[in-house]
Amino acid sequence: MTDRADPAASAKEPVAAAPAEEALAVASAVAGTATTEAVAAANPLRDPRDKRLPRVAGPCVMVLFGVTGDLAKRKLLPAIYDLGNRGLLPPGFSLVGFARRDWKDQDFAQLTYEAVKAHARTPFREEVWKQLREGIHFVPGEFSDDGAFDALAMALAEIDETRGTGGNYAFYLSVPPKFFPVVVEQLKRTRLSDAPDGSWRRVVIEKPFGHDLQSAHELNEITTSAFPESSIFRIDHYLGKETVQNIMALRFANNLYEPIWNRSFVDHVQITMAEDIGIGGRAGYYDGIGAARDVIQNHLLQLLALVAMEDPTSFEAASLRREKEKVLKAVRLPANLGLNTARGQYAAGWQGGEKVVGYLQEEGISAESTTETYAAIKLEIANRRWAGVPFYLRTGKRLGRRVTEVAVVFQRAPHLPFSADDTEILGQNALVVRVQPDEGITVRFGSKVPGTAMEVRDVSMDFAYGESFLESSPEAYERLLLDVMIGDPPLFPHQREVELSWKILDPIEEFWATQGQPEAYESGSWGPESADAMMARDGRVWRRL
Ligand code: BG6
Repeated sequence: MTDRADPAASAKEPVAAAPAEEALAVASAVAGTATTEAVAAANPLRDPRDKRLPRVAGPCVMVLFGVTGDLAKRKLLPAIYDLGNRGLLPPGFSLVGFARRDWKDQDFAQLTYEAVKAHARTPFREEVWKQLREGIHFVPGEFSDDGAFDALAMALAEIDETRGTGGNYAFYLSVPPKFFPVVVEQLKRTRLSDAPDGSWRRVVIEKPFGHDLQSAHELNEITTSAFPESSIFRIDHYLGKETVQNIMALRFANNLYEPIWNRSFVDHVQITMAEDIGIGGRAGYYDGIGAARDVIQNHLLQLLALVAMEDPTSFEAASLRREKEKVLKAVRLPANLGLNTARGQYAAGWQGGEKVVGYLQEEGISAESTTETYAAIKLEIANRRWAGVPFYLRTGKRLGRRVTEVAVVFQRAPHLPFSADDTEILGQNALVVRVQPDEGITVRFGSKVPGTAMEVRDVSMDFAYGESFLESSPEAYERLLLDVMIGDPPLFPHQREVELSWKILDPIEEFWATQGQPEAYESGSWGPESADAMMARDGRVWRRL
């Protein structure tokens, strides 16, 4: 760790993947052979004690429904290329796009190429692209068109023949939820959901998993009518983020924090996901959904579960999910939702030096919309470890800046043997996990100010990923797509977690539905005044970010 005050330390840039490793990964990806051992052995920065080999996917096809959507272009297609560039895709890997466009393979390849050029994390390499390009196919059609799905089944059989993909298919539904039933029904009808012996079929579902408990349940009924639970991968991309997984490493690989990670030492926990962007072109999705359904039901409650759960017996899906479920089950809402929740809607303002419009003026949003773009809620966890410790969750669009963090704020020292003047500006100790940006962990504690007096004030110790590790972190979707292809489920929430999260949120949504227009807040600010008032009633303040 280095003290934050060291400017030289904080000026260091994260180092990209080592060239030797990259070159070898490329060579392996192109040759389609010997990736794991070769990549591992050739990395000069590798710790020689580390006997682990990179996890590499076996032969398979990724079928992408919704190829023209924003998610595919910005995240999924670039992540697939990045996996190829890191030598983690199998030889013969094939990517099939399915959409309502009158396209040929080359049109989908062109879209993929542009997406990779614009958004890939790793450098563009012609050899890797060529290898990927050979496996790109497109099947045009409507989701309701039986003929199109029959053509998909035939195309997949042919790919198995020519590229040795062994009948292993991952179906990624990056489509609006209203299309889930019809796509799943088609996969069932064509028997694409049935894995012949020795092969696998998996379905990947993007959030939102419903818009309340009832609809989440119905969606699950539809999905499980075609796929067994073990073949369903529900994506919550926050679980693919390195910093989010590091919450588990921090808590359970160390002995330093866990003894104080409880009601005897912790005063409260703040989980913040602040965004500076507005809703962009997503009016159709966002309006009527709002901030709480969009990110509290999934990302923030998953963060809460990881921070508050007991230690799982292993990192296997069943153990991890069991512990998250237990803690989500123990979450309690405050009796008075009016005083302990806040919601807001962004008004016009300034962001990054530019004038921006308010939510109600965004294209596609009705002038009467009551959808919240900011939400804050206070929760408690009724168990021995956390009874009486509030967990404050907040999220919003068009806030001061983009930052996601978990702050565990500790109780004040029971006694200060200093004069009141000397500790006047001393705050509470805190451990802050910075999920993004500037990924890392900060510990805030009191320190003597140099000088002849005994003045004590807050300082920070920082761990920054960029300084400690020589490789830049993979994107969340790289990790999650690889896990789907490998069939490794720990980082995917189970349906029970999804439903427990809706059980927490439904009463809040029902209450808000009776409350009319959310409070306006200026774009570029830190949200509505009611959110500050909610904290002030508890004698606390939101962290300044
Ligand atoms: C998505 C939400 O799940 O997460 C978006 O639907 C949000 O509204 C996005 O902008 C934020 O993701 P990240 O990884 O940029 O924090």
